[in-house]
Amino acid sequence: MSSPSTMDDGGIGTLFLLVCISCLVFISLWTARHKRTNLPPGPTPLPIVGNLLQLDSRQIVKSVMALYEKYGPVFTVYMGLRRVVVICGYEAVKEALINQADDFSDRGDLPTFNKVFQKFGVAFSNGESWKQLRRFSLTTLRDFGMGKRSIEERVQEEAQCLVEELRKTKQMPVDPTFFFSQATSNVICSTVFGNRFDYKDKEFLKLLQMMNESFQLISSYWGQLYTTYTSIMDHLPGPHNRIFRCLEGLVDFVTEKAKQNQETLDPNSPRDFIDSFLIKMQQERQNPNTNFHLLNMIFTTLSLFFAGTETTSTTLRYGFLIFLKYPEIAEKMHEEIDRVIGRNRGPCMEDRSKMPYTDAVIHEIQRFSDLLPMGVPHAVARDTQFRGYTIPKGTDVFIMLTTVLWDPKQFEDPESFNPGRFLDENGEVKKSDAFLPFSTGKRICLGEGLARMELFLFFTTILQNFTLKSTKDSKDIDLRPKTSAFGNIPNSYELCVVPR
Ligand code: HEM
Ligand SMILES: *[C@@H]1O[C@H](CO)[C@@H](O)[C@H](O)[C@H]1NC(C)=O
Repeated sequence: MSSPSTMDDGGIGTLFLLVCISCLVFISLWTARHKRTNLPPGPTPLPIVGNLLQLDSRQIVKSVMALYEKYGPVFTVYMGLRRVVVICGYEAVKEALINQADDFSDRGDLPTFNKVFQKFGVAFSNGESWKQLRRFSLTTLRDFGMGKRSIEERVQEEAQCLVEELRKTKQMPVDPTFFFSQATSNVICSTVFGNRFDYKDKEFLKLLQMMNESFQLISSYWGQLYTTYTSIMDHLPGPHNRIFRCLEGLVDFVTEKAKQNQETLDPNSPRDFIDSFLIKMQQERQNPNTNFHLLNMIFTTLSLFFAGTETTSTTLRYGFLIFLKYPEIAEKMHEEIDRVIGRNRGPCMEDRSKMPYTDAVIHEIQRFSDLLPMGVPHAVARDTQFRGYTIPKGTDVFIMLTTVLWDPKQFEDPESFNPGRFLDENGEVKKSDAFLPFSTGKRICLGEGLARMELFLFFTTILQNFTLKSTKDSKDIDLRPKTSAFGNIPNSYELCVVPR
């Protein structure tokens, strides 16, 4: 009678002992590994959960900023088991991304994206694959800009479409989110898919909702939990799983588009980015190690589609919220638009150099809105000496762009919105080296030129045609982001556009 229970007790005892021993071994290995290295300083991590106590998943940017205050511009934190070196402030970021560009040029881990993208496509690959995809993407985007219609014409045309859509709102209050994402997405769509979509197109809207939702979730508490505790969260239900369903929905769309292109491909006259990629795949078909294969095609296209839509449209949305808060700024832009462009033609890029005030406002919108406060993770491509520390090859590196764009040494009183900081005493645009919303170095945003063109043409074309009316008192408008993690997302709002 008693023997089974003694057996059980014995079994549990052994198990308990084993657990204790493995814990001890784990802890001693962990501390040894932690001590032996010459890593930048940082809070002592606990086994498995890392710096759980210092990193609040609800306020990740704030938590990291508190460590910046405590440990200085370069420090080490553990997000669960993952070691991350964090770099803050203009000086340190410049040293890493410019002076040691080759060391810091790899892409780090973004668990929320990587689950779907794996490491394919231009934004998430490394090494030779990334080099080839980046070169190919840049030249192909340029080619489709130079053909019959320039990229500038495409953006101008889309800006007019957007104005027509806004006119249809008949001065009623509207949430502008999807107007802006349709416009910015159409610029990319016409290049990569060869066509734009109608603003009423239900399928298009569904895609944009998937992008909106995934961007929202990636920047949420759940996205942050997934980022920190990936291997645990992979097995748990919860809203984070929606991210993957949204991204997979986008993958399905791109795959379907690619299939259609394949069926109607004329190797002598590519119609869009996908065609060019398919042709490149055919040319390299004999090469077993080629980087131009189906997965890289799908994920490069999706990278352009995603990065080219959410970023620029969120910046537009932030900008218009700022105009509602400070109507006198939109007023001065109206004045400059009327003086330089007039009312009889749409804006073009040549106008920008004659419109320093508008240009300064757009710089300040990008600085202030601080779209990707933690940048997009990098990793060191080899063992790297940096400021006297040794960062082992493959370590993830966070480039805290927010500490550059809001660096008080570079931008006085950074929390105030002040376009004047980008103007000199003659009223000309004053450049700042610390203006890095697109990051810098080898991984600098591939769409910077396009994004800046879109921001100028969309802002000016809308203001040329409309006056903006807020549905709220301007003092009740809160410019602080409603969510701040991967992205800074502005508070939701409505506005009325009144024809001028
Ligand atoms: C206001 C708009 C935009 C902002 C603020 C922005 C910002 C950024 C930032 C901070 C990065 C990460 C750079 C790094 O790793 O250090 C990035 C990468 C990237 N962006 Fe943008 N971006 C914008 C618009 C666009 C557009 C319109 C496109 C489409 C052509 C685009 C395509 C990409 C791609 C493909 C990458 C990955 C580059 C690589 O890994 O080599 N972005 N962007
Ligand atoms: C998604 O769209 C809604 C409007 O329907 C907007 O309030 C929200 O801020 C958007 N999210 C993102 C991440 O842009």
